[in-house]
Amino acid sequence: MKRTIKTLALVLAMFMLMQTFGVSAFDDKSMTENEWKELYASLRDENTLPTLCVGADETELNICWHADKDTATPKVRMADNAAMTDATVFEGETTPSENEEQLVCRVTMTGIKENSTYYYQWYTDSGWSEAYKYESKDFDSYKMLVVGDIQIGGQSTDNPEEQSRIGYVWQSVLDEALTKNPDISFLLSPGDNTSTGQAADEWQTLLMPEYTRSLPLALAIGNHDKKGMTYEYYTHMPNEFFGKYFEGLDRDCWFRYGDVLYLVFDATSGSAADHKAMADEAIAANPDAKWRVGVMHQGLYAAGVAMLEPETAIMLNAVFQPIFEMYDLDIVFTGHTHMQGRSNFISDGAVVGFAKSGETYKDPNGIIYVNVNACCDQGSLGKELSYLWPYTAYAFVDADVTTYTTVEFTDTTMALKTFRGDNSELLDSVTVEKEDDFNDGKIRVFFRSLGYKIMEVLGWLYLKIDAVVVSIRGGHF
Ligand SMILES: [Fe+2]
Repeated sequence: MKRTIKTLALVLAMFMLMQTFGVSAFDDKSMTENEWKELYASLRDENTLPTLCVGADETELNICWHADKDTATPKVRMADNAAMTDATVFEGETTPSENEEQLVCRVTMTGIKENSTYYYQWYTDSGWSEAYKYESKDFDSYKMLVVGDIQIGGQSTDNPEEQSRIGYVWQSVLDEALTKNPDISFLLSPGDNTSTGQAADEWQTLLMPEYTRSLPLALAIGNHDKKGMTYEYYTHMPNEFFGKYFEGLDRDCWFRYGDVLYLVFDATSGSAADHKAMADEAIAANPDAKWRVGVMHQGLYAAGVAMLEPETAIMLNAVFQPIFEMYDLDIVFTGHTHMQGRSNFISDGAVVGFAKSGETYKDPNGIIYVNVNACCDQGSLGKELSYLWPYTAYAFVDADVTTYTTVEFTDTTMALKTFRGDNSELLDSVTVEKEDDFNDGKIRVFFRSLGYKIMEVLGWLYLKIDAVVVSIRGGHF
């Protein structure tokens, strides 16, 4: 009897403890493949799941969701308790969606404080949604997650088997990464979020893992997203930059998180003038940022044979690399080749220093380029050739599993780690310590900007030629 009372007391104490502290927003939400298939079948046609995105800075969160045209109400409420007592209501706007029946509700939540627990609900067609937990972390020192080429779907807009299969890889890598790294603040993806860019259920599948209710996403545009327009209707990225010459889905964006400025480029557009203008705006608005991160889809120094693709080797190097050099970026994340790899330190196209796995480098010259793996399939054509390129510092050539990368920032250190996506075995790491300021003096930027004018004209010409080529071949590759 005594033992029973003791056990009951212990269970009660644990229950009270859980009530007091709650469970982590990234508590185990693992699923078997069959459980996933059931979830997929039940949600595939809903088209109302929300996308939680990063805000303009760490104190904000953006969210968007589709709602019935007659009842769409762009409202979110947020509280520090699950009962939603004393909740703050945030109102946003509705914008057209890609279909006749729905509108897109867009809301920004503000006033997020660090190391705090929040619960939020959005207004659905049938009232307030279930309350989901969001836990902010430390703002000055934090860890973010990079997973790329999620690329939900197959080669056609009606491919439920492929959507479900890739969705399960996505769910599984989130499960592995977040349960092993519950201190992650947000996820960055260098594009190809969807496969055709034209099907609502590709986005619904991407949003099915419950982890995405608590994990803000920062999503770049990839060539597959560019095959359609759905990215516009299923994301709510901050500081979207539409430029002078961008057309259709083309857009860059930027955001600030702690001491880090993130420049997110649409690498499918060769509009050099617009990309440069976005970088100018972001850099000018964030003179105190300690780190500068670039994000784009196609990899300049990716593992595999990326350098042999003319678009990547010529156009992307010519359009983007000068901007990265002009503003002395620390690191650039890319994807597209479906292969994990990392460069040595690169400056103006040349290797200026080794960045060996496991090492720490103080005030290095040059930029590290990290190419991340894919969820849809792994391995790029010619991956075994990766180490032939002098820029390669690390390439994951010997396995067919996905990977994930974490980056921990403090105001003086940036620690990058890449893990296997199935068991979190550490594959690659490198740390940069920085005391130097950015090498972006006014005279240097002036002369580099002057030289870049040629690229702005060539980029404009490329834009016009690309538009003809895309229309002839019926879309982006
Ligand atoms: Fe791609």
